[in-house]
Amino acid sequence: MQILVEKGLAPAKGFDLLIYPVLRKTVLGKLVDSSIAAYAEQEGFQGGLSEWLCVPILNGHTSDKIAFLGVGEKRGLEEDSYRKLGGQLAKRIRESKAKKVAIAWDGVASIAVPARDAMRAFVEGMELGSYVFHAYHPEQQEKHRKAAVKSITFFSDVTSIITAMQRGQEDAQALISGVHLCRDLVNTPSMDMAPQHMADAADEVARLSKQIKIRHLDKARMEKLGMGAALSVAQGSLHEPKGVHLIYTPTGKVKRKVAIVGKAVTFDSGGLSLKPADGMTTMKMDMAGGATVLGLFRALAENNVNVEVHGIFLAVENMPSGNAYRPGDVVKAMDGTTIEILNTDAEGRVTLADALSYAKTFQPDVMIDLATLTGACVSALGEEIAGIMGTDRKLIEKLTGFGKQTGEPLWELPLFPSYEEHVKSKIAHLKNTGARGQAGAIAGGMFLKRFVGTIPWVHLDIAGPAYAERETRPDSPVGGTGFGVRLLMRYLQSL
Ligand code: BES
Ligand code: MN
Ligand code: ZN
Repeated sequence: MQILVEKGLAPAKGFDLLIYPVLRKTVLGKLVDSSIAAYAEQEGFQGGLSEWLCVPILNGHTSDKIAFLGVGEKRGLEEDSYRKLGGQLAKRIRESKAKKVAIAWDGVASIAVPARDAMRAFVEGMELGSYVFHAYHPEQQEKHRKAAVKSITFFSDVTSIITAMQRGQEDAQALISGVHLCRDLVNTPSMDMAPQHMADAADEVARLSKQIKIRHLDKARMEKLGMGAALSVAQGSLHEPKGVHLIYTPTGKVKRKVAIVGKAVTFDSGGLSLKPADGMTTMKMDMAGGATVLGLFRALAENNVNVEVHGIFLAVENMPSGNAYRPGDVVKAMDGTTIEILNTDAEGRVTLADALSYAKTFQPDVMIDLATLTGACVSALGEEIAGIMGTDRKLIEKLTGFGKQTGEPLWELPLFPSYEEHVKSKIAHLKNTGARGQAGAIAGGMFLKRFVGTIPWVHLDIAGPAYAERETRPDSPVGGTGFGVRLLMRYLQSL
């Protein structure tokens, strides 16, 4: 959709639909013709959050329809409210079938949230709320394309606000292609998103910017590096594992290095510890951590940050077969740690053992991993909140704060020292399961901790929010959500 910013209180002419986002109890008579205001009052429109009233203008000259979008009280309005409102509005506009839309933005341009942030979040919400995945349904795709709004023009009468709005709009555009890429990758069925496809997607991202370089880790390279853990997970599949290492170099002098590591299991059948049928239906999404890395680098191709960023994932498929790894096997990670496999369905941590060991060799100042790691995290925090654990208090707090702003909520789970016992093996350094029926998400974190050494590190268990089985936010349709892309981008921009 084309988004424009123009000077003026509202357009004089030529739009199908003119929208006034308004706070609760706004005097509408100051904005529109008194007859329209009277009609809105009669209809009971109050401006409460998400209220919507559309009024056809029979012989009007400004637009064919005028609509009011309630934004509620000023108190309680925060950055993420704008994102949700944008998502809602995108749906309203679609329903209205309007092609040329105007928004009189001054009433909400800089209340509670700075103008640029408000605009960025609102446009993000509109774009993200308009996302559809129709790659396997050409008729729907065509229908959607035809029904799409042509342009949305934001009006403000204040010059300084117009500048901020333009910036906010550009910020949003530079980010959403990353979120959309992440969603597309997650939504693509595993048959078309095998490890090689993920490596190809990484090549495509790397081609977009001179500042992004890529290194591939094929099976032979992984063997040479001693990645016995990740290789063991991959060995039951007909698809060879494919590792990817993306490097973003800032234009200025490198002051800091950040490594982002993603779990990238392109399909998780559970392996020989096979999942029940119902548990497998969404497991094409088990590469969401890797997809977030790719989405982030897609965004980095359009944004400058001041840090060197390493994006790493080892794409594997977890399948049962005559060649699959078995419960009871002991495998060795790149750093020499031995792991007793007690459940082949706890495969994510086994692949991350090597991914983190590899990341560590580049001596980053910070490591962050994202993984659809445990069903236990979904039990604890539900499908909207990711678990955050780590060794660096400041980093945990910083990310949690950013998550509030970007609409990607995080909640800390403790890496409780005595739970180290839960992942100790009788015959190897570690076992890949925790204590039965207890603290499963934390056990995942305790396991990973061994591979990060002394580097400040945070683990995000995104098993819940990476994939929406029902719509929980108006800017996030069913399927892959792109969780983490906005969050990590904001973090990198803060450095
Ligand atoms: N990919 C799953 C975790 C998952 C479950 C993600 C549901 C999204 C939704 C992971 O590989 C897994 O199977 N974990 C096991 C670990 C257990 C065997 C220790 C789990 O959560 O049951
Ligand atoms: Mn599993
Ligand atoms: Zn998994």
